[in-house]
Amino acid sequence: MSQLPAAQNPPAAEPAAAGTLYGRSAKRRVTVHDIARAKERGEKWPMLTAYDAMTASVFDESGIPVMLVGDSMGNCHLGYDTTVPVTLDEMTMLAAAVVRGTKRALIVADLTFGSYQEGPTQALRSATRLVKEAGVGAVKLEGGERSHEQIRTLVEAGIPVMAHIGLTPQSVNSMGYRVQGRGEEAAAQLLRDAKAVQDAGAFAVVLELVPAELAAEVTRTLSIPTVGIGGGADTDAQVLVWTDMMGLTGGKVPRFVKKYADLRSVMGDAARAFAEDVASGAFPAAEHAVH
Ligand code: KIV
Repeated sequence: MSQLPAAQNPPAAEPAAAGTLYGRSAKRRVTVHDIARAKERGEKWPMLTAYDAMTASVFDESGIPVMLVGDSMGNCHLGYDTTVPVTLDEMTMLAAAVVRGTKRALIVADLTFGSYQEGPTQALRSATRLVKEAGVGAVKLEGGERSHEQIRTLVEAGIPVMAHIGLTPQSVNSMGYRVQGRGEEAAAQLLRDAKAVQDAGAFAVVLELVPAELAAEVTRTLSIPTVGIGGGADTDAQVLVWTDMMGLTGGKVPRFVKKYADLRSVMGDAARAFAEDVASGAFPAAEHAVH
């Protein structure tokens, strides 16, 4: 993060407890091996999305151990309606910014829609770009059994993969935004998907919008960590989209989101106060002028 001013670069959070993922000191980046050890210890850990260097630096300094440069950037950063239009070029540029803004977190970048579905060769070419050009430590892709070959190829090439099953937003046009894994058959398929991504070598798996009991069963069954979003309390980790949980997203957010701040009001108030000061002549005051 050497490009950012020193004031934005204080030491990372002090250790919360020796050896834990959250809040550990910033001697080196978190790795997928640290993530595996957290599951062995039974430590639950947080993951947030990030799409730019400055926001990522705040989360890094707050001790968030894993950041996802999610293709939710489509809805939350780039002004698209869904994640589908996000391109690999856009992902590469923003993932590189997040890497530059952080020192400690493991940075995971999404493989965008259309950048891995053709097969393992395309997936390897796309993931290699994210690792070489953006500098991320891992990639994420959607799909269970259907993405098994892509995951295996990337892992064999030395690229750690986080899988993503349950609701997979890149399939919104066929799947919609509906709870997944309800009913015996769908639950059995979700379990098969979870085992398939573990067998293929994924180091973790996101479970999005699945019944809490099923997410708990998957978590008990797998030796790799599960990362829940709308999957109840029993997954190994929890991820939220940062603009949702900090109240910056306009309009409705999913029911499973807990709102930790109201940034939309804070920023709106600041913008209006500035506008009023300019209109009234209160800004700039004498101390803001240069002579
Ligand atoms: O793109 C994203 O932010 C995600 C999370 C919702 C897991 O995939």
